[in-house]
Amino acid sequence: MLSEVTATRYLTPLRSGGSVPGVFEADDLGTYVVKFTGSAQGRKALVAEVIVGELARALGLRFPELVLVRFDPAIASDEPHQEVRDLHRASAGVNLGMDYLPGARDFTPEVAKHFPVDPLEAGRIVWLDALTVNVDRTVHSSNLMVWPTLGTVPAHLWLIDHGAALVFHHRWDATDPAKAYDFRHHALGHYGPDVRAADAELAPKVTEDLLRRVVGEVPDDWLTDHATPDEAREAYVTYLHARVRASGQWLPTDFPSREELAAEEALRTARNQRGRPAWLRQVPDLHGKPAAEQDWSVHLG
Ligand SMILES: Nc1ncnc2c1ncn2[C@@H]1O[C@H](COP(=O)(O)OP(=O)(O)OP(=O)(O)O)[C@@H](O)[C@H]1O
Ligand SMILES: [Mg+2]
Repeated sequence: MLSEVTATRYLTPLRSGGSVPGVFEADDLGTYVVKFTGSAQGRKALVAEVIVGELARALGLRFPELVLVRFDPAIASDEPHQEVRDLHRASAGVNLGMDYLPGARDFTPEVAKHFPVDPLEAGRIVWLDALTVNVDRTVHSSNLMVWPTLGTVPAHLWLIDHGAALVFHHRWDATDPAKAYDFRHHALGHYGPDVRAADAELAPKVTEDLLRRVVGEVPDDWLTDHATPDEAREAYVTYLHARVRASGQWLPTDFPSREELAAEEALRTARNQRGRPAWLRQVPDLHGKPAAEQDWSVHLG
């Protein structure tokens, strides 16, 4: 079971995260990135975090420890921003904490340029994302971190943020467990991910027993779609078990080469430029992202 801790000190909000998670210390002396039940992404994002994260861990992928965090908004009363205070107020009670990786760096295109990834490891991560329909591990939003970054211990990739996975739980009645999704722009797509080897290694491990254990970690209060929490748990187990058995139908193997990606990006940039008046053509097309992430060539180097 996930351990339960109590948040004791508010350190800072993580404004780079869309759901504005907070960094907190807790009574077990740990430091956690806390995601809130009151966020716009809702409780389903937390359900996906627990199920996919614990599945990743069970399959041997690197994923920081999760805990349930009892949170009293009073401990964060010095938060200056009203919208963050509102989020805290709406989240009194049990929220989700992820062990904070001190000094970890986001796996951005700039970082990726100097960070080799083994095709087998890339294959395992792509395979997990395809199984759990995680649509948020793209080049521009990798939700991968590199850690540790100091000292003599070698740096590795760590998975974070599975809140956008399990998209089927937004439309239970209308999704086919064998459906293939577009993973062409996966953050690790151009590392030659060996998804067939990953499928042979991991699919037999995703048994109904494992799925029951993982889904059993989700608190009852977050499972509100079905008549009872146990019925909801069974729905996740049934869906994911059917999906793993259908891996032959969704296994993503069509990854563009570095050259194809670069050509796509050049085309996209040219299309954007065409629609701009001459005076705007020198202004970078940021769309709220850092410039480096708009430039595929950095990532392909
Ligand atoms: N365990 C962690 N240790 C250190 N830093 C972290 C950790 N988890 C998240 N972060 C940092 O916080 C940022 C936001 O986290 P995360 O992506 O989980 O939030 P989110 O609200 O789900 O964001 P979004 O939906 O916008 O991607 C990450 O990009 C990373 O820089
Ligand atoms: Mg994220």
